Amino acid sequence: MKIGMFDSGVGGLTLLHKAIQMMPEEAYFYYADTDHVPYGKKPVEDVISYSDDAVSFLQGMGCEAIVIACNTATSVAAEYLRHKYDIPIIGIEPAVKPAVENNNGGRILVIATPLTVKERKLIELVGRVDEEHKVDMLALPELVSFAERGEFDSGPVSEYLKTSLDSFFEQNKQSGREGISPEKYDVLVFGCTHFNHFEATLRRYFGNSISMIDGAEGTIKNLKNIMKERGSVSEGALSVDFFESGRPVTDKSRLDFYKVLLSHLD
Ligand code: DGL
Repeated sequence: MKIGMFDSGVGGLTLLHKAIQMMPEEAYFYYADTDHVPYGKKPVEDVISYSDDAVSFLQGMGCEAIVIACNTATSVAAEYLRHKYDIPIIGIEPAVKPAVENNNGGRILVIATPLTVKERKLIELVGRVDEEHKVDMLALPELVSFAERGEFDSGPVSEYLKTSLDSFFEQNKQSGREGISPEKYDVLVFGCTHFNHFEATLRRYFGNSISMIDGAEGTIKNLKNIMKERGSVSEGALSVDFFESGRPVTDKSRLDFYKVLLSHLD
């Protein structure tokens, strides 16, 4: 079957990678909205409109299902898109529930874009599952731009993460939450698909014992079940086509960029 996936850029490759592992014989159409990245700093209405364009384009390519490979777009646009289109639309969400259910008693930090962190969807999800009040949230607005430049483990990335995280812990201290320090965290939840690419740098800050999780596997499982129920027929061979804001990617260096990032996720 033809499956469309979209994100503002390279973040959704984490879902494409998982989908290729779990459903290796399908035709994937990956739409990176490079004209409008980053979504997480834009007004809600704009992200809904970009997401609408992406889904409309992918449906026009014959996709039978769409994966919103972007937590920000899921949080603001999934409902709108599901009303408007009659094909299955599956959206990734931060894996807060699995993090709460499987941790060693420590705290959980959800890192995401500014939009995701302030949207109702995530706040309600945390309110529903975080009975012991262990979950904290932090927006890391600059990571997406670093990722789009292919910069994952540089001096400026480490510096940015250190400054942002140090200031998060400092603010907690000042507001009387003394116990909140990096060692108290067991789990880091990637609430933005771009953030998986920074695993090595984040590990240097938090140490090796922290687990890092995302919602990719759950999302693809969901896609698989829905397509099975609908009796969709597998293509029998893998293919991946890349698009940037609706334009086919033909430039070899861009295609190589996507392929190298995919291979880093192995
Ligand atoms: N990758 C997207 C997410 O999962 C958003 C990145 C952006 O701000 O464009 O939230």
